[in-house]
Amino acid sequence: MTIKILDDNLINKIAAGEVVERPSSILRELIENSIDAKSDKIEVYIEDAGIKKLMVIDNGVGISKEELKIAVLRHATSKIVTEDDLFSISSLGFRGEALPSIASVSKFTISSKTKDSDIGYRIKLENGKIVEENPVAMKTGTKIEVENLFYNVPARRKFLKREATEFSHLYKSFFNFLLVYNDITFEFYKENKKYKFFPKESAKKRVSEIFPKESPELFPISLDVEDFKIKGFIGNPELSYRRSHNLYTFINGRFIRDKTIIHAIAHGYRSILDSREYPFVILFFQINPKLVDVNVHPQKLEVRFNDSRKVHLIISKTIEETLAKTPWVKKDLNVGSSLGQNLEGENRDPKSFFNDTTQLDHFNKSLANSLFSPDFLERSLKQKDPSLSNEGDFIKPMKRNYFSSLDVIGQAHLTYIICQDEDGLVLIDQHAAHERVGYENLLNGYNNKKIQTESLLIPLILLFSPEKFSNLKENLSFLNESGFEIDIFGSDSIAIRKIPYIFRKANIEKLIREVVDDYFTSDFSMAYEDKIKHIFSTISCHSVTRAGDKLNNYEIKSLLEQMDEINFSANCPHGRPVYYKISKYELDKKFHRV
Ligand SMILES: Nc1ncnc2c1ncn2[C@@H]1O[C@H](COP(=O)(O)OP(=O)(O)OP(=O)(O)O)[C@@H](O)[C@H]1O
Ligand SMILES: [Mg+2]
Repeated sequence: MTIKILDDNLINKIAAGEVVERPSSILRELIENSIDAKSDKIEVYIEDAGIKKLMVIDNGVGISKEELKIAVLRHATSKIVTEDDLFSISSLGFRGEALPSIASVSKFTISSKTKDSDIGYRIKLENGKIVEENPVAMKTGTKIEVENLFYNVPARRKFLKREATEFSHLYKSFFNFLLVYNDITFEFYKENKKYKFFPKESAKKRVSEIFPKESPELFPISLDVEDFKIKGFIGNPELSYRRSHNLYTFINGRFIRDKTIIHAIAHGYRSILDSREYPFVILFFQINPKLVDVNVHPQKLEVRFNDSRKVHLIISKTIEETLAKTPWVKKDLNVGSSLGQNLEGENRDPKSFFNDTTQLDHFNKSLANSLFSPDFLERSLKQKDPSLSNEGDFIKPMKRNYFSSLDVIGQAHLTYIICQDEDGLVLIDQHAAHERVGYENLLNGYNNKKIQTESLLIPLILLFSPEKFSNLKENLSFLNESGFEIDIFGSDSIAIRKIPYIFRKANIEKLIREVVDDYFTSDFSMAYEDKIKHIFSTISCHSVTRAGDKLNNYEIKSLLEQMDEINFSANCPHGRPVYYKISKYELDKKFHRV
């Protein structure tokens, strides 16, 4: 075996394997370069999903004739100089890898002109080698043409998908820049015909142009502290999906898919959204580049935070605080005259959502700033400070004994309780209501260390696999502090002796197993208080009454009374509405009485 140093062309091709996965990754690299070059107009031309041709023209600063040949060399970059720069990157590019990688797997032409020169210069490369160079008349800026992609790497070409699939990846790459760079005009041409044009415009206008359907359901979010800024929009929980494709998150101008951020967003929504659902959000983070490493993923899609727990906390808290101010959460809580208004869809003025520049009150600047002080996390985990409480913001005073004052009409479809008050009908989802009651009971009991319990006549013995058992053992205090009495029983079993009274009819085995599977895992790291809330919301889902249960009048009354006793918001912990009001006026209108 002989060991040899690879030639440059081969090295570039190997690098291309990482950087240039498909046409969409090339487009991403080229647009990033145009943005770094301070362009305010970028044109994209695509033929045959970028395989035949992919061209980007910008009006940025351009590259001089002398530097043009250097730009296409490996490790040639104007964006970093010293090692220190690598840890405070503010440009989109920094490795000096994109152009040589692309040039090694395509027929590549770059033309450029700076404002100091009257004429531009063009070079053509094949197999990474310059095959032609000449002056060219052009405006200031850069034009890059990538043709016949992978013509010299047939194996890679074979891996490309159908044209439609590649095109959709391409457009997605393009699309991700649109949201964050609203101050750039983008033009997209497909097979030499206009496909989509976006003029320079305000961020709000751009968002509403791109998401006309969703934009009326978005609410602005903003946090402005020195090292960590958030801007953007958070969506009505009704826009949620099981998949996380509607999380548009950008760090320092770069589209990023990051686990910490995704989890923090879901976490911020947890009081009103099922933990398996993801909201619609558009979030732009400006983070001091020293606090985030962008050099951890070949396509720069992931980042590494110096302190991901702080980042998690700051994002989830900001979302939570902002959500509390949104019409979706707030109106639900002002019971009385406005009960149900939100659900009826009134008072939804899209413009007012956008114009609202509400700043955060509780989670204010100084608090966010203090997140970067070392003792913050410790304090926040032990916090009993009401200004930091998660729950408090969602709870507004409501008319005393509102639910028990309702006149019960009956139960419909074994699912809904029908009541009336003086000005309308109130429908209550019996399962969602019980779930909310269960959740609040657990939480109150836990906070005040008082939970009404019931002893089981015969202890319930449950057997677990060794791994689950050890996780369970470690977390047993969560359950024992919330109304259960559970001991270790032998080497792999537990004995459940007492349960919270409100769960006396629940399937306890199923409930415990679900909590163990979902939360008592070694990779589930979360602040203690938050973990408690998650667990309680899972437990309460197993509460007594489900849809399909027949309730007698006594049971209905008792549920309504319990609803009055708790800190109530109109959504069950999993985000479904608990009640819905149809006003008398609406009924009268339906029957043409008014
Ligand atoms: N559209 C452009 N306008 C002006 N200069 C450009 C343009 N594209 C590339 N350049 C110059 O060419 C250099 C090399 O570009 P390349 O994309 O290969 O590397 P990079 O952007 O520095 O790093 P990365 O590999 O992370 O993208 C850049 O540093 C920049 O100076
Ligand atoms: Mg680049």
